[in-house]
Amino acid sequence: MASEETLIVDCDTGIDDALALLYLLGDPGVRIGAVTTVFGNTDPETAALNTLRVLELVGRSDIPVAIGASHGWRGTRHLAPDVHGADGLGGTNLPAPEAAPSTEPAAELIVRMARQDPGAVHLLAVGPLTNLAAALQLEPELPRLVKHVTIMGGALRHPGNVTPAAEANISNDPEAARIVLRAGWPVTLVPLDATMTEAITEQQRRQLAEFGTPVTTFTAAILDQYLDFYARHAFGERKAACHDPLAAAIAVGDVEPLLAPVVPVDVETGDGPARGTTVADLRGQYRGFPADEGANVRVVLRTDGTFGARLVDRLCGREAVARGAA
Ligand code: BDR
Ligand code: CA
Repeated sequence: MASEETLIVDCDTGIDDALALLYLLGDPGVRIGAVTTVFGNTDPETAALNTLRVLELVGRSDIPVAIGASHGWRGTRHLAPDVHGADGLGGTNLPAPEAAPSTEPAAELIVRMARQDPGAVHLLAVGPLTNLAAALQLEPELPRLVKHVTIMGGALRHPGNVTPAAEANISNDPEAARIVLRAGWPVTLVPLDATMTEAITEQQRRQLAEFGTPVTTFTAAILDQYLDFYARHAFGERKAACHDPLAAAIAVGDVEPLLAPVVPVDVETGDGPARGTTVADLRGQYRGFPADEGANVRVVLRTDGTFGARLVDRLCGREAVARGAA
């Protein structure tokens, strides 16, 4: 990660959101300036409390957590207790955190931090894009103030996960996603095409449980329900997709995608069955994706499939130790 960069993580914490935060917090070289929360896996207030729990676990309650949108652009919302548990953390029902969320609304915090340090903020969005769209409304110059935007979302050559064609983060607020993708800032999109190929397994969950630190005990506990869901609804065995942690690792440069062309991407906002679909122009795939003037998004189509092991190492503190010793 570029040392002058400050991450703002916008999330709907959420099991894999919690894993993404812990992945980033495990690297002392990563600077997280703030976390902002949005509806999605749970409501934004619960997501904020879950984020504070995660920060407390690693002694980082100094990082501000700001609450954002509770509904999408059109006033609708769909939460995911079936995937993430009624508490958003796999039904672990942990005690309330000691720290409280900031009183500053999420979109205002994003704009304030971007204005304070132009060119330093990297937005990592791993929930619906409502807060980012709201920040763009507050500050139309935001695309010039922000260094980069990395988004977990979309399904390009892959089926959707909440509808046949749409991925959850985009489907939850297609209007916001369209605003964000059309804003003219540098965007990296990490869709299901990549994240569904990077799994964490039951065997790795057991390794985490046996390792026995507060972080690994917590992650093993929250993964239990997540692996159940993925076994029943996706893979037929106990392993789960590393959606948000993969996006986090790509954002800070830890994972180098194997295939990531820059192409035009837009979002379907109509009311038909394709609502929330990310439409990427991948027609150049047989010609090596030649440069296109209308291209607006770097889309991660393939990674090497080894991220689950890397995530486990990081959660066990092994990768950080190896780096520190190097
Ligand atoms: C995305 O939706 C949420 O359930 C996950 O946290 C992830 O951000 C995957 O579609
Ligand atoms: Ca998420």
